[in-house]
Amino acid sequence: MSDTFTDRFLGILLAAGEGTRMRSNLPKVLHKIGGLSMVGHVIRAFEGAGCENLALVVGNQAEKVSQECEKLSSRLISYIQNERLGTAHAVLAAQESFKDGKNHIIIGYGDTPLVTAELFNAIKDALLEGADIAVLGFESDNPHGYGRLVMNGEALIAIREEKDANDEERAIKFCNSGIMGLRGKHAHDILRVIGNNNAKGEYYLTDAVEIAHAKGLKVRAVIGKEEETLGVNNRYELSNAEAIFQRRKRKEFMLSGVTLQAPETTFFSYDTEIGADSVIEPNCFFAPGVCLAENVTIKANSYLEGDVVNNKKVSIASEAIIGPFARLRPGSLIGEKVKVGNFCEIKNAQIEKGAKVNHLTYIGDAEIGAGANIGAGTITCNYDGYSKYKTIIGQNAFIGSNSSLVAPITIESGAYIGSGSVVTKNVEKDALAVARGKLRIISGWAEVFRGKKIQK
Ligand code: UD1
Ligand code: MG
Repeated sequence: MSDTFTDRFLGILLAAGEGTRMRSNLPKVLHKIGGLSMVGHVIRAFEGAGCENLALVVGNQAEKVSQECEKLSSRLISYIQNERLGTAHAVLAAQESFKDGKNHIIIGYGDTPLVTAELFNAIKDALLEGADIAVLGFESDNPHGYGRLVMNGEALIAIREEKDANDEERAIKFCNSGIMGLRGKHAHDILRVIGNNNAKGEYYLTDAVEIAHAKGLKVRAVIGKEEETLGVNNRYELSNAEAIFQRRKRKEFMLSGVTLQAPETTFFSYDTEIGADSVIEPNCFFAPGVCLAENVTIKANSYLEGDVVNNKKVSIASEAIIGPFARLRPGSLIGEKVKVGNFCEIKNAQIEKGAKVNHLTYIGDAEIGAGANIGAGTITCNYDGYSKYKTIIGQNAFIGSNSSLVAPITIESGAYIGSGSVVTKNVEKDALAVARGKLRIISGWAEVFRGKKIQK
């Protein structure tokens, strides 16, 4: 049944219906779930389902949305819907992308961030199996507000909007998610004859079903879950979607072999990667751009954040132990068996195998060789108010506690730095560097001092 040469898929993403209920200067679809814009999640789902082309439909003055989406996908083209005249009108705003009939269409929405590639694949499969239109529906106990799917046996014969439905239709609990697939060669012909003679005076995409049915085309419903196409209109709904996203991520990690000691207290991003047998203790936060190998331990209350835009990830090799209370910032490259302990901050630094940074330390713009030991309270002084400078510490070097290493500086392998030193020059291999005032001990001084004070 497939039209071999036209079995290519175009994802059309509708994002022109703004609304003001987010109470925000940021366009609704740019609000984030798991560290990625809502519309970004939909783009990922389309790409995950192998849609070769993507069309985005935005309203006037939505450059921010098209810019963000074009950044996320090189195959996406933006179209503008000048007036908000309904979902079919919105799809037609992108007609340049499908008029030639060479792509099958799948329609998704910028404010339904919980859609998945599997779900778009189900629509794809229905079209490949011969359906001319496939609509994703779900059963809902509370169908109020949704369009209802009117079935006749296996065939979907109409979608009736709540406002246009009679009592019998309103009693139907099988609802329209809005996600629809259309066979390429019929799509344009169907969409362009949709009218606006209905309660809202809008061009309803849903009318495509009755039109196709009347033409004798094959129209099918694909069954999904209400949760997967949940729309977000305000920040309360945004938090519900975030909660669902986090629940999914936690389950995905646990089923792939990651231990989450208190799953409900740990938060992930859309792109977090964690290898099997890693253990995540309670209250950890993974911002975007973080990748853990196998057997990594993240102790409680740690915060990890990469920088995806500038490709500065946080990457942690196997058997490293991070935290408790550690902060890893963009560009932290942590080697095998490295330990980063409590109240340590790492940024843009490579720490090689087995090195230890255990207590109260800032390591920024640095390279630390294998087996080095960085004492408590060590600070790399990497910034003079204008530029950043680099600190290089060789293998097995020993940095005494409370040292300040003023960059640019190189401490060669095996060197020792005496505690409390402010080091401003390079230190050669196996040398000792100490920079501190000489210690004096004056016997009996305290007793004399106290005596004077008491007399007074
Ligand atoms: C729509 C469906 C309904 C379905 C429901 C699921 C139609 C006619 N109805 O109703 O059957 O149950 O979604 O949530 O399709 N949009 C535009 N331009 C427009 C109008 C809408 O881009 O001119 C976009 C909106 O941004 C939104 C989506 O299309 O993301 C749906 O529009 P909305 O007005 O919310 O439709 P519903 O009435 O909810
Ligand atoms: Mg809606």
